[in-house]
Amino acid sequence: MCGIVGYIGNQQAAPILLNALKKLEYRGYDSAGLATITDSHVCIKKDAGTLVEVNTKHQLNELPGIAGIGHVRWATHGAVTASNAHPHLDCNQEIAIVHNGIIENHQELRSRLSARHRFTSDTDTEVIAHLIEEYASTGSSLEEAVRLTSRELKGSYAIAAVSAKEPGKMVAARKDSPLVAGIANGGNFVASDCLSFLEQTDRIIYVEDGECVILTGDKVSLFDNDGHEIKRTPSKASWKVDEATKQGYDFFMMKEILEQPQAIRHALMQDRTLMMEMALEILRARQVLFTACGTSRHAALIGRYVFSRLSSKFCDVVMASELGYFSDSVDKNTLVIAVSQSGETADVMNGVKKAKENGATIFSLVNVVGSSLARMSDRVAYLNCGPEIGVAATKSFTAQLTILYLLAYTMINRFDQGVGQLNAVSDLIADNLQHNGLEVPKIANRMSRKNDFYYIARGINFATAGEGALKLKEIAYVHAEGMPAGELKHGTLALITEGTPVVAICPGDYTFDETLSNIAETKARGARVIGVSDRQEPAFDEWIEIPEVDEIFYPLVSIIPLQLFAYHSAVARNLDPDKPRNLAKSVTVK
Ligand code: AGP
Repeated sequence: MCGIVGYIGNQQAAPILLNALKKLEYRGYDSAGLATITDSHVCIKKDAGTLVEVNTKHQLNELPGIAGIGHVRWATHGAVTASNAHPHLDCNQEIAIVHNGIIENHQELRSRLSARHRFTSDTDTEVIAHLIEEYASTGSSLEEAVRLTSRELKGSYAIAAVSAKEPGKMVAARKDSPLVAGIANGGNFVASDCLSFLEQTDRIIYVEDGECVILTGDKVSLFDNDGHEIKRTPSKASWKVDEATKQGYDFFMMKEILEQPQAIRHALMQDRTLMMEMALEILRARQVLFTACGTSRHAALIGRYVFSRLSSKFCDVVMASELGYFSDSVDKNTLVIAVSQSGETADVMNGVKKAKENGATIFSLVNVVGSSLARMSDRVAYLNCGPEIGVAATKSFTAQLTILYLLAYTMINRFDQGVGQLNAVSDLIADNLQHNGLEVPKIANRMSRKNDFYYIARGINFATAGEGALKLKEIAYVHAEGMPAGELKHGTLALITEGTPVVAICPGDYTFDETLSNIAETKARGARVIGVSDRQEPAFDEWIEIPEVDEIFYPLVSIIPLQLFAYHSAVARNLDPDKPRNLAKSVTVK
């Protein structure tokens, strides 16, 4: 996934674009670049490296011109090099484009174009610049050239293009990658995410698949694929600027971990009627399938237990990248519940599209208002947890769990009780954060030389083990495996030796006794056990204390200290928990 942004107005574009790209770095940070238009030619600077590194080296902010485009990259096709950084140019260096997505037929297009065009990169994206050049050379306007080019592209794209021959204009288009336009005083924007221009405006126009947007300094016009103008009323952004800043924390991830009591309370602010309608359809559905990726999938796995334990409704969870392989079992009697913070994860989108084609009903739990998944769902419950900038999902996970608990309570006609119980748990979490905010860093530092962690748990807590392990892997780069405690003796126990760290989620619930005996099995082989529990046990070499709650809520209270553990493990290793290597906040490629 990458971040694109364009600005055209009455101010120097480069500093505005640079500031906008800072808000998009969560989408990719292996290279960056800007292209601006001035005196009828294109000025471009780009390189491998973070935005700060590239700006320091090339003074991106000094580029002249009042119109320009910018890009932060998460490499898909082509190594992380200066030549593969965006923007990309046509042969005459008069057209510049930036792109988020994957052009699946880029090889075929490159073969056709390379007879007449000189390619300077290994990316899929560059074919777009030369296609636009082809059409423009036959007299097409920039917007016509972009529209004709779009028709030839297969795959996903959000593109913005400028031309030195038409300096007062910018054109953008999208298919399967997010794109929004912003209408501001003194200029207009187009970007992957409205966060990039929230400081200038909260007036947004959502661009749908197949549409094209033309921006000048004082106008934003929308067209369908046939070139017919579309009148769309601007929406108001649901987030405020300060929600997308660190507010004094070293990293977004810590801010977002500490926001979780509030995130739970905000997630509870659901429309009662919507919850009732969703709950009823879930109960009536002949087959209910959750689908999600990564952390969101762990939330769905817990939701599955909660629906069964609280509402006696059995559901299954199908990893989004696998859902397409089950399409023979998905039909009009299927209700798919897609769980996604970004609402743009390609695996989720592709699975849901196939399910929709088979007649399934689609519900989604999404954080980003107006995201692609939200707009293709029959019903949407929003997480309401504000922008989550840290690549590692934290508050969005607890917000997802909260809504899943609330749906389960609503299914048994106890909406108000659910709200009350979960508000009470959020207070306990706030207190526990105070305690673990001091204790967990010490444990993380004591374990900072350890590798190969095993996270074990049983029943409803098993997905928490998986989520805790994922956090450690993705931000501290420490290998960790989440696994059912009962499975250890069937093989993995061979890996437990003197000092092997084992994180055991062992709350005082229906899994306690059996998990304790599994802990004993690891201790007998020399494991160093970190116990996550409301009870201190002699078997624990380290104890991460969690509050005693109704047993259904232990996943909600036990994941938070594990997030802290991963965060402090990353910091102890001098890593940036907000921008882990090789990863991006939303994976919009298959
Ligand atoms: C979690 O910390 C990761 N960022 C990743 O696993 C993420 O949960 C996954 O890519 C799904 O993203 P989504 O919730 O936006 O669909």
